[in-house]
Amino acid sequence: MATVKTWAMIPLALLLVVWTLPTAVSQSQAGPFDPLIEGLVGPVAEGAAGLLPIPFALIAKVSPYTSTLNPLLQSALLQNNFTQFSSDIVTNLSALFGVLAEAKLPVPPFLRPNIEAEKMGFVGEAYNVTTADGYILGVFRIRSGQCSSYRAVVVIPPGLLSNAATFIYVKENSLAYRLARRCFDVWLFTFRGYLFGRGHTHLRDTSSEFWDFYPYHWGAFDLPAQLEFVSNKTGSTRMRLMGVDQTATALLFMNHVHGQRYQRLLASCYIYAPFGYLGRLRSPLFTAMALGRDFLTAAGAVALHNELAFMNPVVHPVIYNLCGRISPITCDYLLQLLAGKTDQLDSAVFPYAFANLIDSISIRAMTYYLQQVGKIKYMAFFDYGFIENMKRYNRSTPENVNLEATTVPCSFYALGQATDSVQEDNLDTWHALAKSAQSTFEVLAKYNGIGPFVPVDTESIYGPAIRQLETDLTRLP
Ligand SMILES: *[C@@H]1O[C@H](CO)[C@@H](O)[C@H](O)[C@H]1NC(C)=O
Ligand SMILES: *[C@@H]1O[C@H](CO)[C@@H](O)[C@H](O)[C@H]1NC(C)=O
Ligand SMILES: *[C@@H]1O[C@H](CO)[C@@H](O)[C@H](O)[C@H]1NC(C)=O
Ligand SMILES: *[C@@H]1O[C@H](CO)[C@@H](O)[C@H](O)[C@H]1NC(C)=O
Ligand SMILES: *[C@@H]1O[C@H](CO)[C@@H](O)[C@H](O)[C@H]1NC(C)=O
Repeated sequence: MATVKTWAMIPLALLLVVWTLPTAVSQSQAGPFDPLIEGLVGPVAEGAAGLLPIPFALIAKVSPYTSTLNPLLQSALLQNNFTQFSSDIVTNLSALFGVLAEAKLPVPPFLRPNIEAEKMGFVGEAYNVTTADGYILGVFRIRSGQCSSYRAVVVIPPGLLSNAATFIYVKENSLAYRLARRCFDVWLFTFRGYLFGRGHTHLRDTSSEFWDFYPYHWGAFDLPAQLEFVSNKTGSTRMRLMGVDQTATALLFMNHVHGQRYQRLLASCYIYAPFGYLGRLRSPLFTAMALGRDFLTAAGAVALHNELAFMNPVVHPVIYNLCGRISPITCDYLLQLLAGKTDQLDSAVFPYAFANLIDSISIRAMTYYLQQVGKIKYMAFFDYGFIENMKRYNRSTPENVNLEATTVPCSFYALGQATDSVQEDNLDTWHALAKSAQSTFEVLAKYNGIGPFVPVDTESIYGPAIRQLETDLTRLP
């Protein structure tokens, strides 16, 4: 497992760097960057703020690192040799992050889907929905003003480490706009912890209680509340669910917990790289995060309140400015090294996409996914260990999630090159659903796990699911 270890060093090294900075710990603590990061933790900083020029002195300071790093990364990628992730890469990357974390950086301009949609000529609306356990979640509606009626309501929850903006990153070619142009009534959802889901009726997003959640909570609370809200708002009980990876986890949990109660509001589902069974997962990305988590825990998870804090006020500006503004190609290489080689990453939209990426997640959610690795056809509740399981569940091992509780017809799209959700696991998951749920299964050969977010050939990734959805309007009206 030597390869994995070397890989895991990368985010770990980055976390080590940011950990040493005082503002990494707490959002409320005053620090030297406060005037610049104000908009990040407070109200959303819009458009123009993100277009502040990168100071020349800063470019001069980081360019020795990027010009060393980029060829090293490119050669590791060309050779497809993960062990080539040399100490030179790790140290240069850490040093680069160090320089950026200490610099005064332009504030990332968060994208609000309703506002972005209006800029693209659509009608945008924003709402908040409060879950039964108090989380306040942003829900965004995107429609074309040119349609006399809408063919169906399509709801789209966020993908892993992402948020409601996930499906508007590729501008006019985005999934949300493609659907809206075809007269679908599109709703973008939020899961607790992600951007637009950091509000709560009585918990602060800096408390460990707030971050004590995993995909069960997305399925038992977040998805139901938003489905019911949209159904109330539109009158539809034949909604279509589209999404990627963790949307499947939430759906499977929802149906296990609530049976038909919310599922009856759905007519069909379409999910890319569904996270159900994950036994064969082999992504260095997850492994790297696991090490990052262990490190954060060791360093005092209480201070970091159980959050894998990519959105914290030091980390996010560094990622945004490096990946979006200063050297998108460095991040293009890094993403490919972590998620698999691909020519389907459109780095031209990185300045836009990284305004909202990479989003924070709870350490428990990450740990939850990792608990399933190596266990074939296994999906259960969180395993807290014997003593805590007895206390919480009155049993020594966690209950299995009953995948057969999912009866809504689902189309699964396995990504041919994905390492974080592999075809065989996707297929096992699909076969475990109720017979009525096994609608279609397709492999999209040229896509890997980050493909759906910033694809080059948007038609070939979004086209199949949209065509299936349109077929289903008559097949499953
Ligand atoms: C990968 O790179 C390492 C370190 O440079 C080298 O020792 C190893 O032989 C390479 N493996 C392959 C398959 O090229
Ligand atoms: C960056 O990598 C080069 C080799 O490519 C190495 O000589 C240099 O020491 C590294 N810089 C840092 C800060 O680690
Ligand atoms: C939703 O709630 C958040 C606070 O959690 C607030 O900042 C935002 O303005 C609200 N949005 C709407 C549309 O009411
Ligand atoms: C939806 O409408 C029902 C019936 O009026 C109501 O009980 C429920 O609270 C509403 N749910 C949401 C999330 O608005
Ligand atoms: C725990 O489980 C045992 C046996 O499975 C049962 O007898 C007992 O009533 C359960 N206790 C609670 C509190 O549910």
